[in-house]
Amino acid sequence: MPDTAPKGLKGLAYGGDYNPEQWPEEVWHEDVRLMREAGVTMVSVGIFSWALLEPEPGNYEFGLLDRAIGLLHENGIRVDLATPTVAPPAWFFRAHPEALSVTREGMRYAFGSRGAICHSSPAYRAAAAAITEQLARRYGTHPALALWHVHNEYGVPVSACYCENCAAHFRRWLERTYGTVDEVNEAWGTAFWGQRYASLDEIEPPRATPTVCNPAQRLDYARFADATMRENFTAERDILHRLSPGVPVTTNFMTALSQCDTVDYWAWGREVDLVTNDHYLITDGRRTHVNLAMAADLTRSVAGGAPWLLLEHSTSGVSWQPRNPAKAPGEMARNSLAHVARGSDGAMFFQWRQSRRGAEKFHSAMVPHAGTDSRVWREVVGLGAGLGSLAAVRGTRTVADAAMVWDWQSWWAQNLEWRPSEDHDARERADSFYEALYDRHLTVDFAHPEGDLSAYPLVVVPALYLTTEAAGRNLRAYVENGGTLVVSYFSGIVDEHDAVHDGPHPGALREVLGLTVEEFSPLGEGERVRITAADGSELTGDVWTEFVVPHGAETVWTYAGGLAAGGPAVTRHRLGKGTAWYVSTRLGAGDLDTILDAAAGDARLAPRAGLPRDVEVVRRTGETGSYLFAVNHTATEAKVPLDAHGTELLTGELAAGHLGVPAGAVRVLRIDDA
Ligand code: GAL
Repeated sequence: MPDTAPKGLKGLAYGGDYNPEQWPEEVWHEDVRLMREAGVTMVSVGIFSWALLEPEPGNYEFGLLDRAIGLLHENGIRVDLATPTVAPPAWFFRAHPEALSVTREGMRYAFGSRGAICHSSPAYRAAAAAITEQLARRYGTHPALALWHVHNEYGVPVSACYCENCAAHFRRWLERTYGTVDEVNEAWGTAFWGQRYASLDEIEPPRATPTVCNPAQRLDYARFADATMRENFTAERDILHRLSPGVPVTTNFMTALSQCDTVDYWAWGREVDLVTNDHYLITDGRRTHVNLAMAADLTRSVAGGAPWLLLEHSTSGVSWQPRNPAKAPGEMARNSLAHVARGSDGAMFFQWRQSRRGAEKFHSAMVPHAGTDSRVWREVVGLGAGLGSLAAVRGTRTVADAAMVWDWQSWWAQNLEWRPSEDHDARERADSFYEALYDRHLTVDFAHPEGDLSAYPLVVVPALYLTTEAAGRNLRAYVENGGTLVVSYFSGIVDEHDAVHDGPHPGALREVLGLTVEEFSPLGEGERVRITAADGSELTGDVWTEFVVPHGAETVWTYAGGLAAGGPAVTRHRLGKGTAWYVSTRLGAGDLDTILDAAAGDARLAPRAGLPRDVEVVRRTGETGSYLFAVNHTATEAKVPLDAHGTELLTGELAAGHLGVPAGAVRVLRIDDA
């Protein structure tokens, strides 16, 4: 069994992507000196090095990598060594142009960037296996090796390829999944619009069509693309396990990315030895620290609650947004420690030294263009020291208060065309529910709809459009056994083939919610609707309303306007020992809080007293003890009430009664006594 933690690391991982091939060797010596100064413990090497390692087919040149890894080793820096299979060399694509991926519209990408790979290509698969085997044989037992980093961010920038090789591979996948063409016809509902197939050979990838393409076909194609990338990951992983026993294998995820619609991280989490994640702040005017917390919670959940590792984030601005602001003073450390609070055993960056050339030269790094007489460098050195004092946190687990149900496949299905309203966005619902829980100071685990929910007093289900019968039974059992569930509109609608469940909506959730939905009635752009409670209080919904018919559920909030006026807007259903809430319109995070407040009451989940907004308090606990992380995102000092006393690890100060957290800072209390 390979280990799950980077081999040979004693404390938390600190470092970044290191690309020595971009620099003359004299610079490498300065690099390792500065790495030591900053307390760097591990770097990721070789992610894009294929063209250097194999300059011609079958001609391997390892000199540069030997020297770089040797130098790192001499300086006590551990190596996360990549297989460079995200960037095949020019000679490879010259020989195998069919291995460049093709868009839905039939355009084949060109060489000259990265990641334009067709994962079904037999030539690509053979070449990737060969370079992986070479690396594993050469470095598999190298004393500096801590972790294998396969590929880079599967699914980005190309989430699926639509070429002829993929068409053939898709047919094989369909045969394995369904057996016969009749089963495919049934699953895809091909009786509609005359799409019936007489044989599997007639089936093509869901390429561009004049109007909406069969949604079940598209959903299956996303599953196929996901499975195909995972085949390539596991092929590389198995080579590494065979030739480099005991060294964990990872590939860097992007769990919170909303652009990629073909990576089911629940499935990927089961295949890696250590879950690692890349996270970048999206500066679109929303609260970036909430998005960060959500990404970290999602990543931990994909890891089954075990510690994971933040493999990339940025020291300051990125370079791929329309506008790329620098991070504010202290923000980098706060971001890093917020990830650590939520289960990351370290903080790594893209990248070590800011590039002078190429597409990412304006992306920040640990060593900026400005050099070491700079704020970024001073903060990098400070963070290294801080992480050094948190070594004992490694291996402990974050404690969650509530869960959110999340399913990538449901999300892909929901993003297809011709839904009742284009203003409805499943990801937005998840973000808003998360934000409401965050503002209640609850730490959230994410759960698969068919996963075990019994540990959580409160479970929220934002827009679970695709809900299997099994998921419906699971949610019902959760409530019957005493759980409190909060479900938002457009959940429980279709099965795994995007077919509407038989009978009235929400087919898979009718029983647990104690209601049916007779019709959806989405609102016009910008239109709002008031909902009122018996005590006269009011909330405002937008985007969506519907005609809800209770069958056992009680109406708690009623539509005061719109077509559904007078009908139930929010309901509550007592079932067995538990309660299921249903919210049939879109409420913003603030208004959702009112509903969550009532649901938290049902769940007997006491509010956390005395914590200001934007002060995060998260606990990690394990063999070495219990640690309370307090992250202050505000511009004023915060006082976090304590019911224990302990030692603050970053300052060494003792704390009892309360923990003072300066504006923008983080404090980590080792609890000495409960
Ligand atoms: C990541 C990628 C890195 C770098 C970074 C920039 O998605 O893995 O190689 O491009 O983005 O933010």
